[in-house]
Amino acid sequence: MNVLAVADATIMSALAADVIAATIVQKPNAVLGLATGATPMGVYAKLIEKQKENGLSFAGVRSYNLDEYVGLHGNDPQSYRRYMMENLFQHVDIKNENIHVPNGDATDIARECRQYDEQIVADGGIDLQLLGIGNNGHIGFNEPSDHFTLPTHYVEIDASTREANARFFSSIDVVPKAALTVGMGAIMAARAVLLIASVGKADIVERALNGPVTPAVPASILQFHPNTTVIYVK
Ligand code: PGA
Repeated sequence: MNVLAVADATIMSALAADVIAATIVQKPNAVLGLATGATPMGVYAKLIEKQKENGLSFAGVRSYNLDEYVGLHGNDPQSYRRYMMENLFQHVDIKNENIHVPNGDATDIARECRQYDEQIVADGGIDLQLLGIGNNGHIGFNEPSDHFTLPTHYVEIDASTREANARFFSSIDVVPKAALTVGMGAIMAARAVLLIASVGKADIVERALNGPVTPAVPASILQFHPNTTVIYVK
């Protein structure tokens, strides 16, 4: 594992954007697994800069987001699809048909999850999976549990995660209680993983990387991933 402890979020964002850009330059039709939350915002801003200033092209890129809130339509201002449109996709030349975010508003959730995994496999699997990390060690919405779940699945969001995410909503009461998340199968099958963590996450990063591998700290599974880079603010 390649672990970089950096001084601040600006450096973290720049380095992470460099890793993503390098992946796209090496493979213009790369399959990117993408993440939402506060941490990747600076990374996406850097990627937009790279498109504008250096001509980095997303025209061949396929993207699969990690997760979506259940019950929110993709146009909902709080949905992760909308987050991705506003923070990255509408500013770069990615093709609409190459953008994938789980549909949290699907009537048949089980089918939506199954088809999402099938589509990732049909696209050749994920070349680079970008991950944030929750204060409780979650990746995507793979919350602490007594087992690792492999497929994309429905999950009830941990109370601590709902509290953490309440800052993006008008009140905690309206934070959705469930999500669809890519499971550990597609994450661990990614050819490369890039985990980023901003200020305040050094302790959980330390537990995930150096503590026991356990579903109680979901990110700890990455100790078994053969090609993971971690960039965190120390
Ligand atoms: P954050 O969330 O980037 O908003 O801190 C990370 C996560 O919960 O995965």
